[in-house]
Amino acid sequence: MTTTAVGIIGCGNISSIYLKNLHQRFRGITVAAVADIDVERAQARAAEFGVAKGCSVEELLADPAISIVINLTIPAAHGEVALQAIAAGKSVYNEKPLAVARADAQKMLTDAKAKGVRVGGAPDTFLGAGLQTCRKLIDDGWIGTPIGATAFMMGRGPEAWHPNPYFFYQPGAGPMFDMGPYYLTALTTLLGSVTRVSGSAQISFAERTITNNIQYGEKIPVNTPTHVVGVLDFAKGPVASIITSFDVWHSTLPWLEIYGSEGTMLVPDPNNFSGAIKVRRGGDDTWREMPLSHSFAENSRGLGVLDMAVAIQENRPHRASGELAYHVLDIMHAIHDASREGRHILLSSGPDRPAPMPMGLDNKGF
Ligand SMILES: NC(=O)c1ccc[n+]([C@@H]2O[C@H](COP(=O)([O-])OP(=O)(O)OC[C@H]3O[C@@H](n4cnc5c(N)ncnc54)[C@H](O)[C@@H]3O)[C@@H](O)[C@H]2O)c1
Repeated sequence: MTTTAVGIIGCGNISSIYLKNLHQRFRGITVAAVADIDVERAQARAAEFGVAKGCSVEELLADPAISIVINLTIPAAHGEVALQAIAAGKSVYNEKPLAVARADAQKMLTDAKAKGVRVGGAPDTFLGAGLQTCRKLIDDGWIGTPIGATAFMMGRGPEAWHPNPYFFYQPGAGPMFDMGPYYLTALTTLLGSVTRVSGSAQISFAERTITNNIQYGEKIPVNTPTHVVGVLDFAKGPVASIITSFDVWHSTLPWLEIYGSEGTMLVPDPNNFSGAIKVRRGGDDTWREMPLSHSFAENSRGLGVLDMAVAIQENRPHRASGELAYHVLDIMHAIHDASREGRHILLSSGPDRPAPMPMGLDNKGF
């Protein structure tokens, strides 16, 4: 297998773990350049991780050695940067959400097809040991036929700890677009695609007060729903409820539970690559913790990119696909649309579940 050279655009907070994994840990892949709208920031990141080039976006896109661009910019720039990369003949892998508007995400998929390049999207936590084990247990029949699920992301918002929390309360963010991708990617890769959505979404508080130590006391106007409740009907039959909230002080609810004809499964935090998995079948007195069947239990952000690189070489579909990320974006919009319009929304997207990860890999790659 030849080594794939990739480039990263967006050298902020999340770029460190991508650089650590893609440049220093995984085999068969190397980061040839990093870029940012702030070129000095890109140069600093390049020096920190031993990447040959820290440069402008234009310079990175002109580098013929780079075949995949990883787009770690802010959500509002995801569409524009990805379309630029595709126009330059590169495959692109976006952090979540795939884009803010459905139209930008759709254009990415159609432009990429026309150019003969690929689109991938985060999250890739579903490729980790935790969610892959859950999938195998469900597919092996441990809880029988899935009939339903619940998913909860209950919190009081990021204004107490995030250094710049303003954007979380503007359109394109809110708890669903920010955290929903983890829960919805987990649900759709465990249970299959969603066909019909309803929901209610509200702004519980018109204004938020920042309590981090940088902008302490500053107010943020809230312009997007912060308590978002959805109901999802899956093509294969299960019905799920999901709540994502920035308005809740305390809660005892789990991250994810899957209910089957023969038992219940507790799924670990889908924002992580692993965690305790528990199953309790009909006649059981207690929960039993299940051993992990797959590798990549540690923070393996970038695994979806590695899978895409290997998939291109092997001429097979990659797992964290643009179609899957688009379906998740479609569901998130549909929950908000349903609330605004007072009706169920029928979805037109609905990709097949990606192939499960192979068992027996080490933590360095395929
Ligand atoms: N921070 C996290 O813990 C985390 C976790 C998972 C996913 N994400 C996702 O990763 C993405 C980036 O998040 P972050 O926390 O690293 O943000 P950040 O604000 O720390 O970094 C974003 C970087 O992108 C650059 N940028 C913005 N617009 C650009 C453009 N048009 N062209 C080139 N560079 C541009 C900025 O200068 C900045 O360096 C987001 O989509 C976010 O949802 C973040």
